[in-house]
Amino acid sequence: MKGEFYIIGNSGEKTLSGKVVISGAKNDMVNAFAASLLMKGDLFVRNVPDVSDTEAMAALLSSLGGSVKRTATHEYKLNTGACAGSNLRGDIAKSIRASILYAGPLLARFGLVSFPFPGGCVIGKRPIDLFISGFMKMGARVSEKDGIFSIRAPRGGNIRGASIFFKRQSVTATETFMLAAVCADGTTVIKNAACEPEIAHLAEFLNSCGARIKGAGTSMIEIAGTGLLSAGKKIYDILPDRVEAGSFAILGALAARSLTIERCIPAHFEALIEALIEAGVDIKAGENTLVVRNSKRGRPFRAVDVKTHEYPGFATDLQAPMAVFLTQAEGEAIVFETIFEGRLGYVGELIRMGADILPLDQHRIQIKGGTELKGREVESPDLRAGLAYIIAAIVAKGDSVVHNAHYIDRGYERIEERLRAIGVKIERKP
Ligand code: EPU
Repeated sequence: MKGEFYIIGNSGEKTLSGKVVISGAKNDMVNAFAASLLMKGDLFVRNVPDVSDTEAMAALLSSLGGSVKRTATHEYKLNTGACAGSNLRGDIAKSIRASILYAGPLLARFGLVSFPFPGGCVIGKRPIDLFISGFMKMGARVSEKDGIFSIRAPRGGNIRGASIFFKRQSVTATETFMLAAVCADGTTVIKNAACEPEIAHLAEFLNSCGARIKGAGTSMIEIAGTGLLSAGKKIYDILPDRVEAGSFAILGALAARSLTIERCIPAHFEALIEALIEAGVDIKAGENTLVVRNSKRGRPFRAVDVKTHEYPGFATDLQAPMAVFLTQAEGEAIVFETIFEGRLGYVGELIRMGADILPLDQHRIQIKGGTELKGREVESPDLRAGLAYIIAAIVAKGDSVVHNAHYIDRGYERIEERLRAIGVKIERKP
């Protein structure tokens, strides 16, 4: 699924309509795959998104000796009973940052793990210092040679529970240490933990399999080491993708007469919903659906300032699509990206499309709204900005080509089919 997308813009007309069903979240799928390493028997996973990051996590688990069976569309049976090695294969681990999630349970189970500096979307430096210092707090020894990190449990023993303070909240580090702590000796406390819904969901599932985790979803998590768990017939049901749902809400506001977003959890992207309501978008949120309507009849939306923040704040993953929204709102807005220092890299192409955006510094841009976007040929710099370009291209006048479709395929399943179903004129070219 490489290639590019050809999109015929609708010149800002609100022509789309219908419903879209939200896929399972890539960022919860990665947790389910990593959790399989803590299970004595099979782990059944459902609502798995059919995206290339799922293929990468599956390939990595297979390369460790795990059994990965796709039992039906969006369903997997994972079994790690035959896993022997704990070297994460470099070529795959370098392509996906979440590969580091495997490091925690592998270290706890085999006393050893090695991995290259993990890759993923280039949205900033994305260091791994929190992982290294956390492993050391648990008694592990860390060495690095030729870019490969080796982490070893203390001689003749297991990693041990520790008090781990994160100097900044990190989603993947919180998940990694929660997973490692389940099989460590003693109790681990994670302080200044990240609070994203995927973390609470992972803990809830692990607890249902016998783990003893308290406080997940808050900034202080306590994990009593219990050893390997048993899922039995329990199913890890991947959460709906809150970033995908939020991006469709933005698309709906900009380009739909009426768009119903189904199988989503609006409570997981409330910061975006509040921002859109403040901007004047007509949104009705239910427990599992969201309806965006064009009730404005030609009246423009208002500009709102946006500052990204750890959950429950405004998600950094929705920052680029929101910037596209703001190019169409009346007035000036500041977008302040506080999480990643390289996540405004998409701005240049939006300016080429006609957006009036002034970069202020590495973290902030000023957007003057109410500009007409024009179709252009653009290159997605990463997954989330890639979808933002598709939204911009839909709103624009004229045709666009969005290159680097493979970034978009990392996290959005069959995006062109689902967009076509609500009226978008989009084709994929190999
Ligand atoms: N950080 C450090 N040291 C570390 C780890 C992180 O300084 O050892 C910094 C990062 O550089 C960043 C901040 O901490 O400035 C927060 O990063 P975090 O570790 O939370 O990011 P992540 O776990 O690598 C996850 C999502 C991202 C999402 C961020 C922020 C997954 C698999 N990835 O990344 O999703 O943007 O949290 O919410 O859950 C995406 O899906 O496209 C994506 C990039």
